[in-house]
Amino acid sequence: MSKTAILEIDSEKFELPIIKGSENEVAIDISKLRDLSGVITLDPGYKNSGSCTSEITFLDGELGILRYRGYSIEDLAGKGHFLEVSYLVIFGELPTAAQLEHFETNIRKYTLVNEEMKNIIDGFPKTAHPMGVLAALTSALTAFNPKSVNVENEKEMYEAVCKTMGKFLVIATWTYRKTMGYPLNYYDNTKGYVENFMRLMFELPTEPYKANQVVIDALDKLFILHADHEQNCSTSTVRMVGSSHAGLFASISAGVSALWGPLHGGANQAVLEMLEEIHRTGGDADKYLDKAKDKNDPFRLMGFGHRVYKNFDPRAKIIKKAADEVLATLGVDDPILAIAKKLEESALVDEYFVSRKLYPNVDFYSGIIYRALGIPTDMFTVMFAIGRLPGWIAQWKEMRENKEPIGRPRQIYTGHPLRDFKTSDKR
Ligand code: CMC
Repeated sequence: MSKTAILEIDSEKFELPIIKGSENEVAIDISKLRDLSGVITLDPGYKNSGSCTSEITFLDGELGILRYRGYSIEDLAGKGHFLEVSYLVIFGELPTAAQLEHFETNIRKYTLVNEEMKNIIDGFPKTAHPMGVLAALTSALTAFNPKSVNVENEKEMYEAVCKTMGKFLVIATWTYRKTMGYPLNYYDNTKGYVENFMRLMFELPTEPYKANQVVIDALDKLFILHADHEQNCSTSTVRMVGSSHAGLFASISAGVSALWGPLHGGANQAVLEMLEEIHRTGGDADKYLDKAKDKNDPFRLMGFGHRVYKNFDPRAKIIKKAADEVLATLGVDDPILAIAKKLEESALVDEYFVSRKLYPNVDFYSGIIYRALGIPTDMFTVMFAIGRLPGWIAQWKEMRENKEPIGRPRQIYTGHPLRDFKTSDKR
């Protein structure tokens, strides 16, 4: 392939560099196009625009490939653990046993959240959605950690990573305890990260808590599957906010808000609510399939379709298998699962879904598994956020280390031309 692309505008030719990625992805570098020609490119929703180069995650939506730092998601979910995969995503290499031990020890140093944060949680109504509370609490962490990290100082950056990993998990679970009226509890530094998640969520002061290893292993896998997904909506948000040199907590708080939307991470909650509604109204999955296809009906089949996967979402394949195993091991017989299976079977052979390449995505199955593990529906998107945290951190770190410029898209103005101001009596 040639090294440049030629763009012709009004018989004038402009030569633009072609950039090639390590997996042969090709981009035309238009960063100088406006300087050269006065013209910009327009791409609403960035369907065809790369915002950066990145070494973190490789994704091929046509072939259904997902890799973190060159390792396949199948290998990582099958053989790895969440903290070592987090280390890989953030620092670029799988940790040695000593590095992993050091990482865990350092995360533990930061698992105590300032007691004054409890006053902030107290201010929320019990009915507040956990994602709204999580975004606010993550942002509030800035107030307790006002010193912004010097990204060029390796030690400071490492500490900021550990601090974020430690504190975010605790406040994420506190959002649930708030809705339940449970006392806020503490991380147990003698236990693992994912086991702590379960304890932090469900341990009560009135009785000893017994962790279930099947549940912990399933959650660990789910967190790995969510750890990064290149330039999705929330990650792009984190990079964009961070590009103004806003701090890590502030940027991640913005990512939490972006993730909450039902077209992004909020879909896992929406899937379960959809399945419950189908069950409540008699279990007719085909009726909902028809609704999704009806262009006069805004309803979409939640958990189907993806901006980049035009083939099966590889994460969905792994979760589907894990869901079957976990449900069998825990002995869960859930009518919601039967409805999900029926929906999936019908959609996969339906012309509307087939022609648009709409396959089940990660959120279609994750909700079912979370439900089987006893995670409340309102917390599903928080689970996604916990899993995605290493990806957000890694992308923020990479963006700052690469000294990327402030994110500032342009636009094509389509409003009124210059108008004279008329005083109100003349309008
Ligand atoms: N149900 C029915 N029709 C759909 C759906 C759906 N779930 N998704 C897309 N379509 C149709 C859409 O109406 C359009 O049809 P037409 O060409 O006739 O106008 C066509 O498929 C293309 O859709 P699009 O909206 O242009 O596709 P997109 O790439 O902009 O949107 C999406 C991707 C994920 C937002 C969308 O598929 C969707 O809304 N899915 C449901 C929500 C969901 O499950 N989100 C989780 C995404 S995976 C987790 C994550 O990474 O956040």
